[in-house]
Amino acid sequence: MAQQLDTFLELDLMHSELDEMFLRHQEGLIAGRLSDALQRLDRFERLLLLHMRHEEQQLLPAFEAQRSQQDEPPGLPAEVYVLEHKKICERLSEIKQPLVELQEQGQPSPRDLIAMLDLECGFKQLLDHHNRREHNLLYPDSDKLISEDKRMAMLEQCRTEWAEARDH
Ligand SMILES: [Fe+2]
Ligand SMILES: [Fe+2]
Repeated sequence: MAQQLDTFLELDLMHSELDEMFLRHQEGLIAGRLSDALQRLDRFERLLLLHMRHEEQQLLPAFEAQRSQQDEPPGLPAEVYVLEHKKICERLSEIKQPLVELQEQGQPSPRDLIAMLDLECGFKQLLDHHNRREHNLLYPDSDKLISEDKRMAMLEQCRTEWAEARDH
């Protein structure tokens, strides 16, 4: 990762990298190179799942432990983010399946590609909505609620595992 911010807003950089990976997938798609498009979608999925794992196994439990102790808990409960992750994963498999089927049929027609891009549009909106919610609420709230020591340790682990998985 190019920058080290030392706040949970650093996780936005992973969102940006994921957006870039998805665009690379779509570049393969509109060029009609379906095996490239699928390979790039697999890579996107692998890194997206890692990012969600970081949030679900590290950030959200620490966030919720502190949030639930507040008289007026800020933002949204952790389960909202986990449910959104589940929805994102479901929608991703709804994109992937038709793409695999299209590849098996041979050369796609322009209309096949337009249909795929339309399908992917909903997925991008869902992911963007989730990422903006984390940027506006979860990450800033976590910066306030989670101790600096814990934050630095978590970010260090996320950074290391992300770099390993990305360069793999
Ligand atoms: Fe998330
Ligand atoms: Fe995220």
